[in-house]
Formats: sequence, structure tokens, C-alpha cells
Amino acid sequence: MEQAMEQNGILAAAYLAAGVLFILSLGGLSSPESSRRGNWFGIAGMAIAITATFFHSGVSACGYWTLTAMIVIGGAIGAFVAARIAMTAMPQLVAGFHSFVGLAAVLVGINSYMESAGLSGAARAVHETEVFLGVFIGAVTFTGSVTAFGKLQALIRSKPLLLPGRHLINAAMALAAIYCGYRFFGVENIMAQGLPALLLMTALAFALGVHLVMSIGGADMPVVVSMLNSYSGWAAAATGFLLSNDLLIITGALVGSSGAILSYIMCKAMNRSLVNVIFGGFGAEEGKLSVPGAEPAGATTAAGVEEVAGMLKEARNVIVIPGYGLAVARAQHAVKEISDKLRAGGVNVRFAIHPVAGRLPGHMNVLLAEADVPYDIVFEMDEINKDFPETDVALVIGANDIVNPGALEDPASPIYGMPVLEAWKAKTTVVLKRSMASGYAGVENPLFYKSNTRMLFGDAKKSVEAILEQLDGTLLPNFLN
Ligand code: TAP
Repeated sequence: MEQAMEQNGILAAAYLAAGVLFILSLGGLSSPESSRRGNWFGIAGMAIAITATFFHSGVSACGYWTLTAMIVIGGAIGAFVAARIAMTAMPQLVAGFHSFVGLAAVLVGINSYMESAGLSGAARAVHETEVFLGVFIGAVTFTGSVTAFGKLQALIRSKPLLLPGRHLINAAMALAAIYCGYRFFGVENIMAQGLPALLLMTALAFALGVHLVMSIGGADMPVVVSMLNSYSGWAAAATGFLLSNDLLIITGALVGSSGAILSYIMCKAMNRSLVNVIFGGFGAEEGKLSVPGAEPAGATTAAGVEEVAGMLKEARNVIVIPGYGLAVARAQHAVKEISDKLRAGGVNVRFAIHPVAGRLPGHMNVLLAEADVPYDIVFEMDEINKDFPETDVALVIGANDIVNPGALEDPASPIYGMPVLEAWKAKTTVVLKRSMASGYAGVENPLFYKSNTRMLFGDAKKSVEAILEQLDGTLLPNFLN
């Protein structure tokens, strides 16, 4: 008895320490300078949390073997996946991880309910509420995340599925789930009456998760991933209540609230309403994806490497706009070399980051940090957008949707209303990409047809390296002298 109390004391202290480290980790991750430190705090917190589990009084002697085996297997899978995953595939990996959290919440909830026969009164009501909410959120998170994984991995088409009366379908499923709740709470026989109601609600929530994410498409997927991140946090917190595990409650609440805040920030950045995104409202109206006349007309003007290198040599102000294609091509190191070279010649080179550039929040910041691009020349969209008219060359590298003028000028465009980097306002805009293919949202881009736009076709890394070669050996005029 005394030993169990002592063990619980150690456990509580370890969980508290881990919780504090997770909070410090989130704090650290808020800026690129402190993000490494934040990561280490997170790793230390997780190591303490896992080690502390061994001190749980409920773990039996043979349970230690099971725990050790699970840690070794899970750790090996985690290390293997982390080492192999491409940066561009990170969103689907994150979606995959969320699905595990959701499924765990469903299984723990159902199991906990099946073992709750002895509870009565307020304790029972609280427990059943935790079970019902935990399983509901977990089930929506599970199938929603699996569907998001399929879309991001291109296993399922990314266009929104627009069933007629889809809002009614969602509402009907939500009402049916509430009715299951009515049949679930306070029943006499939990196995014969409560469990079937709980399982039916689980099936409905599974269907709701699939339908909610299937009806969202195009540029809204980033918000969906961060919403699912938030849901997975609340599902983990509900599991924490069921297992009386304080650390799971703290961690779940941190993930849930930070995911919700991130979703809100991203919605603001994309000029979306959160409700519209969740219910697949925006950009998903039938017919809007191919409005006649919305396609840009005219011809594009191609440019060669020499011409582009020449423009950069002549320029005083250059803004580089990295996008998803930069990540695919892994061109960040060569771009950094170009910026060093130009800056040494006195050119004012800056980088402009759109909040949803690439495929995950902060994707471009991570790439640029990896290439050691100084933080003080990297600017957020709001900080730099006004400077395009005074810019000689806007160098768009593997970006498409985030520089689409249709988002501001064409009410028929599916991404109309999303703030974008106004690259076309520069004196010359150079776009590096391989073809005329559209970006993630599947929308034509009128930028490519503007008279001051030059298209440099080819793989971004090869093009950037070729430009660098042209700049090498050339003494750039130093405007500062
Ligand atoms: P996109 O609009 O997806 O455009 C990327 C462009 O890169 C493509 O048009 C592609 O054209 C080009 N490209 C691909 N590989 C290339 C290579 N090797 N070399 C040169 N170019 C290459 O990217 P974006 O402008 O960064 O916008 C991001 C989009 O993703 C937004 O719609 C956003 O909503 C969505 N999204 C964002 C996130 C987050 S959180 N950031 C998550 C999911 C989705 P070519 O094929 O012609 O080369």
C-alpha cells in the first residue's frame, strides 16, 4: 500500500515535470531561433513521460515486458518513418498520426464503458459523458484523418465531394448521434442497451468524419489538417479523463487548443471562416471550379537562364517567393547561394513567406532555416506585400496558388478571397516551374500570362543552379559602394 502511494507520488511529480516541459516546448517552437531548444524540451518531456509509466502502480510484472516490447517496436517504427519521410510528405504523416490518436480514444472509451458496471450516481453520469464525447471525437478524428491522409497522398481525389444536400446529411448524422446519446445515458443494462447505442454512434461518427473531410478540397486542406490536429488533442484529453491520467489531459488540452488557435490563424490568413471550412462550404460550390471565361487568356513569355541571371545582376531589390516546388526540388541551398552572391554585390534580397506555402505550416521557414538563410531577411506576407511595387525582380520558385492574382481579382476563382503575395506588382516577375500545370488548388494562374512575367521552365534546382553558374565569376556591382 505504502509502496503504491510512493509510486503514485513519483508518477505525479514526473507527469508534472513532463507537462511543464511540453509547455516550454510549445513556447520554444514559436520562433525559428528557439525551435531547436523547443524540440529538446519536447523530447525530454516525452522521455520522462514514458519512463514514468513504469512507475504506475497498475503495471504488473508481466506488464513491464509488454510495455518494453511496445516501446521498442513503436520507437523503431517511429525512427524508421522519421528517417525516411520526405519533408513534402509531412502533412500526410501528421494526418496518419492523428488517426492513431482518434482510434485509441475510440478503443479506450468503449473498453472503459464495458468495465464501468459498478458506477452509479454522479460518477456514472460524468463517466458516461466522458465516454460518449471521447468516442465521438475520436471516431470523427480517426476516419477524418484517414480520409485526409488519402487526399494528401493522392490516393483519393482531392476535389471536394459535393453530394446534394450535404449539409442536411451532416445534420442528420449529428442528430442521429444525439439520439444514440439519449438511448445510451443511464440505461439499466450497459451491455444489452448502452453498448449497442454507443457502437451505433461510433459508426455514425466514422461516417461523419469521412463525409466532412471528403467535402473539403483545394486550398482548404491545410486548415483541415490543423483542425484534425486539434480534434486529436481533445480526443487524447478525453482518454486522459477516462484513464485518470493527468499528463494525457494536459497534453491533450495543449494539442487541442494549439491546433484550434493554429486553425483560426490559418483561416484568417486565407480569409476563410472556420465554420465554412469545417462544413466544406468555401470554394466547394458546384460549378465554381470551372467557370467559363475564368481561364486566363493570352500567351506566356519564356525566359532563358542567362536572361534571368542578367535581370538579377541588374536588380537592386529582389524578393524570392518559395513554394511547394522548391521543397520538391530541394533547391533551398542553391537559392541561399544565389541570395548570398547577390547580397555580396549589394542587392537587397528578401524572402517572402505565405502562411500556407508548401504543404504544412512553417514549411518554407523550415527549408530556409535548413539552408541557413538569415532570419532577418525572411518576411511574412503581411510585412512584405506592400514592397512589391518597389521591387525589380520577384523570383517565384515552385510557387503557384500563393501568387495567384485571381484570388484577389476574379470572383469566379475557387480561391477568391485568399490573400496572396502580390508578385505581379514587381517590375518583372520570374516564375520557375516545370510546366504550365496548376498548383494544389487545381486553379489556373493568370500571373503566368501577365506582360511583365517571364517563365523559366525546368526543375527548380536545376534552374537555380544554372542561374548560380551564370552569376559565378561575375563581379556584381556593389550598390552600397
Ligand atoms: P502549389 O500551388 O501547390 O504549386 C506548386 C508548384 O510547384 C506547382 O504548380 C508545380 O508546377 C511546381 N513544382 C513542383 N515540383 C517542382 C519542381 N521540381 N521544380 C519546379 N517547380 C515544381 O504550391 P504553393 O504555391 O506553395 O501553394 C501551396 C498550396 O498547397 C496552397 O493551395 C495551400 O492551400 C495548399 N496546402 C498548404 C498546406 C500548408 S499548411 N502549407 C497544406 C496542404 C495544402 P509544375 O508541376 O509545373 O512544376
